[in-house]
Amino acid sequence: MAQHGPDEDGLSSVAVRRGLLCGTALCTSDLSLQPLHHAILQDCNLVTAEYEMKWDAIQSRPHIPDYSAADKLVAFATDNALAFHGHTLWWHEAIPEVYREGSDADFAEAALQHLDMTVTRYTGRLTSWDVINEALEPAHGREDGLRRSRFLDALGPDYIATAFSRAAVLDPTAVLVLNEMGLEYDLPEAETKRRMMLSLLERELARGTPIACLGIQSHLTALEQPREHPRLRAFLREIGRMGLNVMITEMDVSDHLCPRDQRRRDAIVADTYRAYLDLVLDESSILAVSTWGFTDGSTWLNSFRPRADGAPQRPLLLDRALRRKPAWHAVRKALLRVNHAAGPAQPDPGAEPSH
Ligand code: XIL
Repeated sequence: MAQHGPDEDGLSSVAVRRGLLCGTALCTSDLSLQPLHHAILQDCNLVTAEYEMKWDAIQSRPHIPDYSAADKLVAFATDNALAFHGHTLWWHEAIPEVYREGSDADFAEAALQHLDMTVTRYTGRLTSWDVINEALEPAHGREDGLRRSRFLDALGPDYIATAFSRAAVLDPTAVLVLNEMGLEYDLPEAETKRRMMLSLLERELARGTPIACLGIQSHLTALEQPREHPRLRAFLREIGRMGLNVMITEMDVSDHLCPRDQRRRDAIVADTYRAYLDLVLDESSILAVSTWGFTDGSTWLNSFRPRADGAPQRPLLLDRALRRKPAWHAVRKALLRVNHAAGPAQPDPGAEPSH
């Protein structure tokens, strides 16, 4: 296992000193490896469940919820005094097989029962919840930009308010997060999505939906993510004016467009992390920065975004031997630049909606 110099604090202590949560997504298989356990504790004061807390993972057998894996992850966090970010209560890609067909009424009943049971089970033990994941899909053609999903079909556009209001009653201590993908990109469709997200949040906050934080997944692509990004800056400022905090919930940097040479790839990936974090940390009241996987050996990108040359992706902060990569140093440098504790953002009373 790689030994790290004592002078280089891990990311966890850098984050704590700045009032930030910093961590990663784990699976129960990550918990059994001692060297990994030690490294996680050096770099994380927050963990989340990569997939074992999702509805389809919990209800892999029809009508028989199994929380054993999720319980193990929460126990790991509790035993090690780490914050825990719940991921995710309602996501169109994590609906159990048995509920993908059937009546809207049956689906609504099952979805509400899952939300109630799951939030109640962990109430008081989770720092935050991704209550709803990926609510928007402008390509589906709705004026409000909502994704056409079983949740929308069965519960109507009020499904967002319903989910957040129920979660707030069942766990008043958890920060409730609306998590979204693709808000970070410098593409026309991303700008459309950012504008629709601002309108959605404005509508929901005006009706009292208890959304406290916007989750920005942050699945970036090296050589595609711009170093400067004025539209993202403007968007984040609008989010701040609404009094919302921001969580970077699933950060990784795909290197599938980068040259194969490992040193060059690692340098490009590190620069992408640095530029992105400098921008987001400058413009937001950040609660947490979380990567999606702890080492290159645990990235989902080898299946989701494989490199054309077949070389394994190197998208994360540590390599498979737990060695700190240039990306790790880039993230540490970005965290060191943060000089504000991420207290709750305050709405700007004078702010006029700008979209
Ligand atoms: C992915 C996991 O990494 C995979 O292991 C799983 O098979 C599918 O889901 N956005 C999300 C995450 O919100 O839940 C997804 O995680 C990645 C994209």
